Amino acid sequence: LSVWAIVVAAGSGSRFGRPKQFESLGGTTILQRSIDVASRACDDVVVVLPAGEGGVTGGATRSDSVRNGLAAVPHDAEIVVVHDAARPLVTPALFKAVIDAVRAGADAAVPGVAVSDTIKRIDGERVLETLDRAELVAVQTPQAFRLDALRRAHASGGDATDDAALVEAAGGSVVVVPGEATNIKITTPDDLRVAEALLS
Ligand code: CTP
Ligand code: MG
Repeated sequence: LSVWAIVVAAGSGSRFGRPKQFESLGGTTILQRSIDVASRACDDVVVVLPAGEGGVTGGATRSDSVRNGLAAVPHDAEIVVVHDAARPLVTPALFKAVIDAVRAGADAAVPGVAVSDTIKRIDGERVLETLDRAELVAVQTPQAFRLDALRRAHASGGDATDDAALVEAAGGSVVVVPGEATNIKITTPDDLRVAEALLS
């Protein structure tokens, strides 16, 4: 049974200043690095791109882009792994870890890393509470799903910053595997400088 990857790369990079997926990182683009790792870890890869760039065309939100990618995954696939092109330093080992966790029985598996900052819930400038850091993880991609669980979660057309949130809302089981500290998301030009330093 096959494992498909969906690499979502249809964002506009508003915080970066331009579509960051096409920036060079150590001589290769951010997008190509993510595709290369996904290709090594999965049987097939769907790449979701801005309109006019080829591949599968993305949508207005990240969730819309994932849904467009899902439409290109064959129905007999077993597992689908959604990865943000914006995390180019991901390793095949992390893909394997989330895939294995789904094979072991979860509907979904996500990488999580311990939070080192203290996190407070706020309302404007007023602090409402301080959360217990020991109970929190910062979640990354790749995120692996049983194909039917992800399709069901997306069927309602919901919007969330990751796909696991939609599976959680649909009542599915989501587990966390250890993430990678170096699997940073490129959001701003500073992040790209950090990624260059991690590669050197
Ligand atoms: N993405 C996408 N389709 C969208 C929005 C985001 O495929 N409509 C992708 C991005 O290309 C990125 C990943 O989802 O690989 C994570 O999104 P983010 O880091 O927020 O990238 P952008 O949306 O491009 O950046 P910004 O939010 O600063 O505009
Ligand atoms: Mg975005």
